[in-house]
Amino acid sequence: MINLVLFGPPGSGKGTQAQNLIKKYNLKQVSTGDLFRFNMKNDTELGKLAKSYIDKGELVPDQVTIDMLIDELKKPTDAAGFIFDGFPRTAAQTEALEQIVEEELNHPIDICLSLIVDDEILVERLLKRGETSGRTDDSNEDIIRNRIKEYYTKTAEVAELYKKQGKYIEVNGVGEIEEISNKLFAEVDKIK
Ligand code: C5P
Ligand code: MG
Repeated sequence: MINLVLFGPPGSGKGTQAQNLIKKYNLKQVSTGDLFRFNMKNDTELGKLAKSYIDKGELVPDQVTIDMLIDELKKPTDAAGFIFDGFPRTAAQTEALEQIVEEELNHPIDICLSLIVDDEILVERLLKRGETSGRTDDSNEDIIRNRIKEYYTKTAEVAELYKKQGKYIEVNGVGEIEEISNKLFAEVDKIK
């Protein structure tokens, strides 16, 4: 089994790269952002709560996100492992994930792959994505900049926690999609 965390600021290409990684290694993608959007689309209580944060570019409270993740990991799957995309986003989520994977999957997080992209490129990419994504949080530069601010104030420290465990690897997230995927594959192959 492989459990990998795909890390990086909003717009760094986590979702795009997750698609290539799941195909190559038969993994299941767990995107907490996608799970929130599914709930928002279906107007569930969880969706309404999440929307009040997401539309401002803020993080949803830890326990809400953690409970949603636990529910997701309880679903049966025949995948060979998991990609956590957009989770953990805080130190508390990082600690929770460590416990959750041990309890639910009996396997630790093996590696944290971090996509490195300059802030101004992130803003450019997200505004462009907003033209077609229909995502309210991609449609406005102030919200996008707030998401990046949340990343620096709350999420960046997640990298330090994985660094301490010797599980943190940075990959340049600017370039051709395939070229970036190949660099990620090379890192996963090292630990397989
Ligand atoms: O991961 P993604 O960029 O799709 O997340 C979209 C939004 O969902 C974030 O900007 C944030 O508001 C919310 N989110 C969160 N906590 C997470 C993942 C996503 O609050 N762990
Ligand atoms: Mg995403």
